[in-house]
Amino acid sequence: MIAVFDSGFGGLTVLKPIMELMPEYDYLYLGDNARAPYGNHSIENIRSFSEEAVEYLFEKGAKLIIFGCNTASSAALRHIQKKYLNGDQEKERKVLGVLIPVAEEIVKKSRNKRVAIVGTSATIKSKRYEEEIAKIDKDIKVYSKACPLLVPFIEEGWHKKPEAKSILKKYLRPLKSCNPDILVLGCTHYPLMQKDFKRIMGKKVEILASGEITARSLKSYLERHPEIESKLGKNASRQFLTTDCPEKMKTFAKDNLSMSLSSTHKIDLKN
Ligand code: DGL
Repeated sequence: MIAVFDSGFGGLTVLKPIMELMPEYDYLYLGDNARAPYGNHSIENIRSFSEEAVEYLFEKGAKLIIFGCNTASSAALRHIQKKYLNGDQEKERKVLGVLIPVAEEIVKKSRNKRVAIVGTSATIKSKRYEEEIAKIDKDIKVYSKACPLLVPFIEEGWHKKPEAKSILKKYLRPLKSCNPDILVLGCTHYPLMQKDFKRIMGKKVEILASGEITARSLKSYLERHPEIESKLGKNASRQFLTTDCPEKMKTFAKDNLSMSLSSTHKIDLKN
């Protein structure tokens, strides 16, 4: 089974393209809505929340966990990989994130080597995107901006209102003046305002969202790693778990992503 983990509902923007590209696998989605947003928490909290989620998902039988959440990928993924994937364990199970696939795509696509990244406060503070990009191309200049007000607006369904667009404009102004040719939506929620990002940044800036990129990268990863691929169930089953309200999850998925979620349940990560 492939598990996709996120702090809340936003990770459905990552799960959706993954399921569309590889519908045959069994999927389990976990959103830790009770403690979201993660983006304003300390690194220590993000790590301990992510540990609880990973232990739960392994316990449930996940062989491959994708951190759809940019914040958890930035603040907790390396820590989790060191703690849970030592030696032989690595042959049995994997935890991957969204940063490396996105960094690879940036390097492939940027012509002027000026790239802008937006994300939660924790993601931007971690500078993990900068690190992963520099590992591949040191000449790429990265301009980043935390946009902490966007997630609450999107969770409340207020992102189509003029207030949200005016906040977005303010956030993007300093990035636009840096003349990037790529803007990375380094947060699961931001694709829901993708048209607004595009309109403000202008035609010449390509907007990259992590969902489709992660999906393509995962497909290629599975082709190269039969030892993991062969352990994944292929009955096309789907389960959607949240630590808060399953009805809200269904509504969010339907209203924002036209996804109709079957089998949604509330779980408690502490027990
Ligand atoms: N899922 C988070 C991310 O991609 C956004 C929401 C949050 O702050 O928890 O960074």
